[in-house]
Amino acid sequence: MAFVAVVVAMTRKRVIASRGRLPWHIPQETRLYRSIVANGTVVMGRRTYLQMAKSWPGRRCVVVSSSGFKSPALDVCPDAEQAIDKARSYGDDVFVIGGATLYAATIGVVDRMYISYIKKDYDGDLFFPQFDEREWDVMDRRDYAEFEHVVYVRRRSKY
Ligand SMILES: NC(=O)c1ccc[n+]([C@@H]2O[C@H](COP(=O)([O-])OP(=O)(O)OC[C@H]3O[C@@H](n4cnc5c(N)ncnc54)[C@H](OP(=O)(O)O)[C@@H]3O)[C@@H](O)[C@H]2O)c1
Repeated sequence: MAFVAVVVAMTRKRVIASRGRLPWHIPQETRLYRSIVANGTVVMGRRTYLQMAKSWPGRRCVVVSSSGFKSPALDVCPDAEQAIDKARSYGDDVFVIGGATLYAATIGVVDRMYISYIKKDYDGDLFFPQFDEREWDVMDRRDYAEFEHVVYVRRRSKY
């Protein structure tokens, strides 16, 4: 059955961005991220979409925006719940890929998290929300040179 997951790369202090961009450049993490979301429908906030639009050819995506943002051939929904419903209607797994505003709005409802913990410490100004590890089972944990990747499954799935 299809699931709804967040996908994020963050430091151990939960930094996800600094001044509007990723503070690191880790091609291995980027490749892993792309392979995770490859066969699903992605949901993202307007700012993340505008940042990534050029590197987003052909993949089905739903953008969350309540300010009237529109783009041809793009699903835009006014809140996170409607965006996830729209993404789920396509039948594939759904990946919420950021940014900070959207993570905060969805962490309470997703049933999986794909988290890359960047080993080096970076300063930043946007953070992934805190979560209670006791509510999650670790389904997979892999160590890479510059990050550790952990897949969490919610103990009691909401979808
Ligand atoms: N480390 C990572 O894995 C990762 C992943 C993705 C992004 N990022 C970083 O995150 C940053 C962007 O994050 P951000 O928080 O500034 O922006 P964002 O979440 O990408 O986009 C924020 C905008 O999306 C819309 N939105 C988001 N949640 C909404 C909700 N629940 N209801 C209605 N509208 C909602 C609003 O658009 P309107 O203003 O149009 O209403 C809001 O202004 C970038 O710097 C990017 O590099 C990091």
